[in-house]
Amino acid sequence: MSDLPEPGELLALATTVAREAGDLLLRGRLGHVEAAATKSSPTDVVTALDRASEELVGRRLRTARPDDGILGEEGSDDAGTSGVRWVVDPLDGTVNYLYRLPNWAVSIAAEVNGQVVAGVVHAPALGVTYTAALGEGAFRSAFPASGADPHPTRLTGSTETDLSRSLVATGFGYGAERRAAQGAVLARVLPRVRDIRRFGAAALDLCAAAEGSLDAYYERGPHLWDWAAGGIVATEAGLRLGGLHGRAESVDLVVAAPPALFGPLHDLLAADPPADRD
Ligand code: IPD
Repeated sequence: MSDLPEPGELLALATTVAREAGDLLLRGRLGHVEAAATKSSPTDVVTALDRASEELVGRRLRTARPDDGILGEEGSDDAGTSGVRWVVDPLDGTVNYLYRLPNWAVSIAAEVNGQVVAGVVHAPALGVTYTAALGEGAFRSAFPASGADPHPTRLTGSTETDLSRSLVATGFGYGAERRAAQGAVLARVLPRVRDIRRFGAAALDLCAAAEGSLDAYYERGPHLWDWAAGGIVATEAGLRLGGLHGRAESVDLVVAAPPALFGPLHDLLAADPPADRD
């Protein structure tokens, strides 16, 4: 663990691999896409392309850095020995992908000794790649761009300070019980904000909050692979990322918001006990 890589080095590798997986998924979308299986519930689908993307990402990362660990949505779980672990959602927004809606992405984060230090969220059908490395800011690049976009935009989040004027994104899990609980929370949030958006890919919701096209994002029940890469994009854009009652973001709650909105939004959400997990 002596020669730990710099965040920028990990980000460069993640970006190359995410774009390669994005190309695979784009090509796959030209053919017939169907759910290959269901996971936690009949609505929680996995396509053959989810698996192919995770396999490609895993293979490329292992070839480049054989001693690293990998945690992936479709089953990869290896601690590794190098101190680096990759957290991969090979296709965030699977249901959008299945329905040929454009909000889906490949999301890859790199942790060093348990801390996320780099993240890429690559959305081929939207034509954008979001990137962040610890201490180096968050950026949005136009796509396609081989190598570096000459004009990446630095992200700084929304300047909104009033929750009642805030556009807030959220997401829902796949289990019926969890959804019922999420609906109850939503009923309380909706009258207190400008409006709610549900785009269907948590990593992209976090990036949209990072670029200020949303004011904030919250969700109860997402998994680490849903928020690891988008989370560092959000924090490097100046947003506060956290969970319940001062705790770190977790499966119980992920909130990303400009500092002035974080407290009011958190307090609105914290009134409910965590619902059952998917
Ligand atoms: C899902 C999406 C969705 C969020 C769910 C996630 P998947 O990921 O990010 O927006 O609300 O919590 O599970 O299943 O499309 O990879």
